[in-house]
Amino acid sequence: MNLLVTGGAGYIGSHMVRELVRAGHKVVVVDSLLTGHEDTIPKDVMFVQADIRDRSEVTEVLRAYDVGAIFHFASRIQVGESVSNPRLYFRDNLAASIELFESALDAKVTRIVFSSTAAVYGDPIRSPIDEDHPKNPVNPYGETKLAVERVLAAYDRAYGLRFAALRYFNAAGADAADGLGERHDPETHLIPLVIDAALGRRPHITVFGGDYATPDGTCVRDYIHVRDLAEAHLAALGYLNAGGASGAFNLGTGRGHSVREIIDAVERVSGRKVPVVHGARRDGDPPVLVASPRRAQDLLGFRAKRSSIDEIIRDAWAARTR
Ligand code: UFG
Repeated sequence: MNLLVTGGAGYIGSHMVRELVRAGHKVVVVDSLLTGHEDTIPKDVMFVQADIRDRSEVTEVLRAYDVGAIFHFASRIQVGESVSNPRLYFRDNLAASIELFESALDAKVTRIVFSSTAAVYGDPIRSPIDEDHPKNPVNPYGETKLAVERVLAAYDRAYGLRFAALRYFNAAGADAADGLGERHDPETHLIPLVIDAALGRRPHITVFGGDYATPDGTCVRDYIHVRDLAEAHLAALGYLNAGGASGAFNLGTGRGHSVREIIDAVERVSGRKVPVVHGARRDGDPPVLVASPRRAQDLLGFRAKRSSIDEIIRDAWAARTR
């Protein structure tokens, strides 16, 4: 089956493309290169530089390549920016996704695997978080992802557009051997920033808050290796192809690690000291975000294999020091 990957030149999308190529699929990438990197796209993968809003271009690509399913990664991803400049998120995450689905319907594509996020839940009222946990996003980033999920649910009921919405917890790590890695600009994610501090590329890492109600006072997150994420997407496609019902699935490990533990792990893996500064809490950070991975295990047969914290950091380190 031929597959379209939107945002296939981005961090998670580029890992997805490799995973699909490894599994023998024919892949077309559509990416605007607003934040993506063209050099991540393998030479033998068809690449169309286009905005997903460009209906004539996207519909043409879907028809010309006889695309059976779309992996939809293209998105803005910064929580803080979504608060200060929400129009970017409602326009580029929500409105643009609706345009993409127009093209999908026109070209009779019936399956979508959508990049969603744990941010749809907002502040957790229980942990680990299962998919039925209340959805009360606390920022426009989470709002737009939840809105896209709701569009998909309505389109499934009305038009038979079947979907899996994959709610990522904290994506991390890299496929360093394949020359991939996390290259956000600006970088805001903890693991690459801690690595940069260990390498002396930044003066220090600032720990946002040390007085949370967690074992060491710092925030706890569920980190999942980006290659595991890619595998889960393939499992989700297999599930939809086998007739599985549309729905949302958490992608995490069920284990949490604190900011302090991440810093310790980077020091352990790299043998270097990380200069640390203790700062104030960052607005909108829940103390603990940990997934219940049960539904993905039971229905998709997915289990994270590469997501021990040391393996994630080893791979992230290799990618960042390449
Ligand atoms: N952190 C620091 N210092 C830093 C950067 C981060 O202490 O310089 C802390 C944060 O406060 C947080 C943890 O490290 O407690 C992880 O922060 P990230 O920014 O790496 O990731 P988030 O948990 O904030 O965000 C991730 C995804 C978002 C998604 C969110 C909720 O990047 O896209 O999870 O699912 F919305």
